[in-house]
Amino acid sequence: MSDLVLSLGVNGRKIERRAQAHMRLLDFLRDELDLTGTKEGCGAGECGTCSVFVDGVLMKSCLMTVARAQGKSIETVEGLAKQGELTILQQAFHRTGASQCGYCIPGMVMAATAALRGNPHADMEEIKERLGGNICRCTGYQKIFEAVELARDVMNGTLPATALDPEAYGQSFVGANVRRIDAPSKVTGALKYAGDMTMPNMLHLQVLRSPHPHARILEIDTSEAEAMPGVEAIVTHRDVPGVDGFGVFVYDQPVLACAYVRYVGEAIAAVAAEDPVTAKNALEKINVRYELLPGVFDPFEAMEPGAPVLHNSTPDNVLMHVPIRTGDVEKGFAESDLVIEETFRTQAVEHAYLEPEAGLAYVDADGVVTVVSPSQNITHHRKVMAKILALPINKVRMIMSPVGGGFGGKEDMTYQGMLALAAIKSGRPVRLVFTREESIAATAKRHPFTIRHKMGLRRDGKILAARIHGVAQRCLRLFEPRRHAKIGDPRGRTV
Ligand code: FES
Ligand code: FES
Repeated sequence: MSDLVLSLGVNGRKIERRAQAHMRLLDFLRDELDLTGTKEGCGAGECGTCSVFVDGVLMKSCLMTVARAQGKSIETVEGLAKQGELTILQQAFHRTGASQCGYCIPGMVMAATAALRGNPHADMEEIKERLGGNICRCTGYQKIFEAVELARDVMNGTLPATALDPEAYGQSFVGANVRRIDAPSKVTGALKYAGDMTMPNMLHLQVLRSPHPHARILEIDTSEAEAMPGVEAIVTHRDVPGVDGFGVFVYDQPVLACAYVRYVGEAIAAVAAEDPVTAKNALEKINVRYELLPGVFDPFEAMEPGAPVLHNSTPDNVLMHVPIRTGDVEKGFAESDLVIEETFRTQAVEHAYLEPEAGLAYVDADGVVTVVSPSQNITHHRKVMAKILALPINKVRMIMSPVGGGFGGKEDMTYQGMLALAAIKSGRPVRLVFTREESIAATAKRHPFTIRHKMGLRRDGKILAARIHGVAQRCLRLFEPRRHAKIGDPRGRTV
């Protein structure tokens, strides 16, 4: 890994730093210069959240090494609003309400700026074309396009500058275009999401995940990884002092896998180290011995006699059966003029929020374990966390950071438990930021359903009977409800 002395301009400032040549420009801007308005949504050149200008050309900074930026002039979203005054485009985004979660918005503002710099008279079709490299999961794009048109018309003098002013609400807010109070920080990139937050002395967490869909864990040996310089703490199921399980309705998801892994991507161990690279390298030094078990990938196969049993507590692999019965359905079918039967299937749905999961955990001076994360269910998470840590609830604080899109997918507690354990064990603040791949592999999905529908109707159209049998696959992930008593105490630390 070769170092170079990097010399480049960033938002009009000359920067000289030593850096590794292969470092991504995105990481350099975020980690070295704290320009966190440039976001990472995908890390693969697909979403546009990392858009910056390089010598005036719009580029995706996740695809560019610092070596390629050598000697160039970089402009980030922080460089647009001079002395804190929003550009016309930023004001237009604010005016039209073109930001919801806001995670895509700095990249959108950059792309829109590029569009109008490229053609100040761009029509709607061209605006759409020029913003085609940027994804927004929340707004439906319409308000964003309207913002760009509005900015174009104000810049060209077709509309007066007052068109950017807030709407007069009159007597009522009903039907009015009410401005979001957090829009300025979203359009300037100033809003800090969990992955943007830092603390002094902070460690970085990386997670070892299962490569197998179903296996028994025979051994987890962390000794070699623990000996590596820069590694401060490694947590496994042995560090869970309380209930090793969480969930929304059933506490069936282990904080870190214990006896079994049940899906590819299940977390087994987490390493807290001085930097993400050291933490990632340490994962390779953790030795896990598995006994491979047959997997099961279809809910109907899972319910067949003799299918691999995934959870000892549910030998038929059925988590929950919820019957709702009323009346005499067979009589209704017998009296029907027409009986229709059909099977419908829905697919699993990945929420694909643009902000990957992230969190920051620390133990404060009063011994309160604190986790900052974009949780959509903060009170529930606090209650569950207290059980995991075997602490009274007043020793646990969950702080909700801005949610960069959730769509229900951030209701589940996924990584907060291991973050808290790592902060307790290391005695230092710890941050975890998922990659897009982790976000897809290791979080819950909208359940896929198979619904068999039988309906009996009379000739006049009246429904006489219906039998609906729905089978939902549990979040695409396979867990065992387990509650084990105190297995290991994190260094005997009292919090
Ligand atoms: S395009 Fe760079 S983070 Fe998505
Ligand atoms: S506002 Fe665009 S992703 Fe949320």
